Amino acid sequence: MPGPPSEQPIRASEDVVVVRQLVRRRAIELGFNLVDQTKIVTAASELARNTLQYGGGGSVIIEGVEETARRGLRLTFLDTGPGIPDIQLAMKDGYTTGTGLGLGLSGARRLSNDFHIESTVGEGTRVVITRWR
Ligand SMILES: Nc1ncnc2c1ncn2[C@@H]1O[C@H](COP(=O)(O)OP(=O)(O)OP(=O)(O)O)[C@@H](O)[C@H]1O
Ligand SMILES: [Mg+2]
Repeated sequence: MPGPPSEQPIRASEDVVVVRQLVRRRAIELGFNLVDQTKIVTAASELARNTLQYGGGGSVIIEGVEETARRGLRLTFLDTGPGIPDIQLAMKDGYTTGTGLGLGLSGARRLSNDFHIESTVGEGTRVVITRWR
């Protein structure tokens, strides 16, 4: 059973730690091996940091998903921050408007099986990732 979705606020750096713990726990419950646990936790960490740093805070919805032949973990990061004017550019390795390495979004995409990002300038950003078991 994938269990009910849970929503975790991301308002401070301590919340990023909480997100990591919640994602790890849910991945274990879903039977992810250690490597896959670490992949989704690392992706979650990067996206949570972006939500905080660039989105001005927001939240993540953590949910197990089940299809006929597979089950996975889906994370939806939401913020109502300034948005991303050029998503293609923001996704490039090494692109940053801050002081980071510019590897968070591209890394999170590589660590996930499904990756969706939508953003509207002046409205906010939503990133949805799924890792299948
Ligand atoms: N939620 C968001 N809201 C607004 N802009 C964002 C958001 N997430 C990412 N961005 C923009 O996309 C850029 C690239 O993000 P990415 O996570 O790849 O790199 P970074 O955060 O700058 O550095 P790193 O993650 O390597 O420390 C950011 O510098 C920022 O301009
Ligand atoms: Mg980042």
